[in-house]
Amino acid sequence: MAKLLILAASTGKNLKLAMDILSAAELHGHEVDVMDLCALDLPMYTPESEKQHLGNEEIQSSMKRILHCDGMIVCAPEYNGSTPPVLTNFIAWVSVQSSNFRLLFNKRNVGLASVSGGGGHHVIMSMRMQFSYVGSNVLGRSIVVNKSKSLNPEAVEEMIAGVLK
Ligand SMILES: Cc1cc2nc3c(=O)[nH]c(=O)nc-3n(C[C@H](O)[C@H](O)[C@H](O)COP(=O)(O)O)c2cc1C
Repeated sequence: MAKLLILAASTGKNLKLAMDILSAAELHGHEVDVMDLCALDLPMYTPESEKQHLGNEEIQSSMKRILHCDGMIVCAPEYNGSTPPVLTNFIAWVSVQSSNFRLLFNKRNVGLASVSGGGGHHVIMSMRMQFSYVGSNVLGRSIVVNKSKSLNPEAVEEMIAGVLK
């Protein structure tokens, strides 16, 4: 049984997408963990706040959840042609609290998905650059859902198989 971690970077349609992917993965017998990044309610990362939150429990347990998984899928809405702040903030925190900023994501298979108001392709490009930079093996195919494109169940199946292979 493989362990899939899904990061949800918003509490609306993207969290719903994360739950839809969870249901599909559970049907295959996989162990699935959905991490709602908004619910973590992390402080805004600044060099000053870093000193105040050394060993922050939420951050430490999030890091363990990432290290425990065999593959990850990130569901994030597009904000101003890029990633939502909650995702950037999360990556900043886990990078500074690791012994090596690439430790958590290096060589990890990552699938990218987005429900966005418009196209959603900019947030996919933005996440692709960031996760590649921290060493992840980002799947070539992504999932984009918007007003004119509904969720393709086959794309979900392919992404689950791709990140857990
Ligand atoms: C601050 C902000 C900026 C946004 N910028 C974009 C954008 O650049 N492109 C886009 O397609 N949608 C944009 N949207 C719309 C969101 O992507 C859309 O509402 C999405 O469904 C929100 O996800 P959620 O339902 O999971 O919260 C923006 C929304 C907000 C709040």
